[in-house]
Amino acid sequence: MIPLYTDEKHKVVVFRGFTPRGYVQANQLVIADSGEGLLADPSGRVVFPKLVSEISLVVPAPKIKYVFFSHQDPDIVGAAASWYTALPNAKIVLPEVWARFIPHLFPAETNPSERFYSVPDSGAELALGACTLKLVPAHFLHSPGNFQIYDPCSRVLFSGDLFASLTPESQDYDFVADFEAHVQYMEPFHRRYMAGNKAIQAWLNRVRGLDVEAIVPQHGAIIRGRENVQKALRWLEQLKCGIDLL
Ligand SMILES: [Fe+2]
Ligand SMILES: [Fe+2]
Repeated sequence: MIPLYTDEKHKVVVFRGFTPRGYVQANQLVIADSGEGLLADPSGRVVFPKLVSEISLVVPAPKIKYVFFSHQDPDIVGAAASWYTALPNAKIVLPEVWARFIPHLFPAETNPSERFYSVPDSGAELALGACTLKLVPAHFLHSPGNFQIYDPCSRVLFSGDLFASLTPESQDYDFVADFEAHVQYMEPFHRRYMAGNKAIQAWLNRVRGLDVEAIVPQHGAIIRGRENVQKALRWLEQLKCGIDLL
C-alpha cells in the first residue's frame, strides 16, 4: 500500500502488490475525501479477496461511494459482480459505450439502472466528499470508450492503461527514477495496444491545462514529479502506435 497523498481530509492510496506471479501486474487506486471513497480499476478475481480486506484500512466498505471502471478489460471488470455485492452503497461508474455489455457480468436479478452511472463520451465530474474529481476522456487509448480520473485535490492523474509499463517481475519498482530507462517497459505495450497518434493528440489537448504532479497508470510504476510528468507527455506526443504502424 503506497500512500501517495495525505492531508486532513484527502487521501490517495495505490495498491501495487496484490497480483499473483504469472498475471499482468495491476495497480488499484483508492481516493478518499471527507470520509467518502472511490475505488478505481479494482482488477480481477485473484485480487478481490486481498483488496476487499485492505481497502477498509483507507475507507470503510460502506463508505465507498464509487467503483470506477476505466474500460471493459478483464483486468478491470473481472470481479465486478463481487464488488457490486461487497460495496452495497457504491455506484458502478463506467463508460457509456460499455454500459450495454456490462449486465453480462452480473446475476440476472441485478437491476443495473439504480446502481450504475454511465459516463457520457464527453466526460463528467464526480463529487467525492468536498472534492470534485474529473473524468477525462481518453478514448482509443486504448479502449474506444475509456476514461481517466484527474484528482485536483492531490494533483494525481489516474491514467488507466496509458503510461502502463510491463516490467519483468524481478525488476519491478514502485516509482520511475530514470524516465529514459523506463521507456523500454512502456513502449512495446503502447505501440501494440494504443490506437494511434491522432488519439494521443486529442488526449494531450485535453490534459495540457491540468496541473499534474503524479501519473498513476493501471500497470507498472508511478510517474512522480513535474519533471518526469513532462518527460512522459513529451515521449507520448511523438509516439507512433496502433494504426500508425499498420
Ligand atoms: Fe486495457
Ligand atoms: Fe489494463
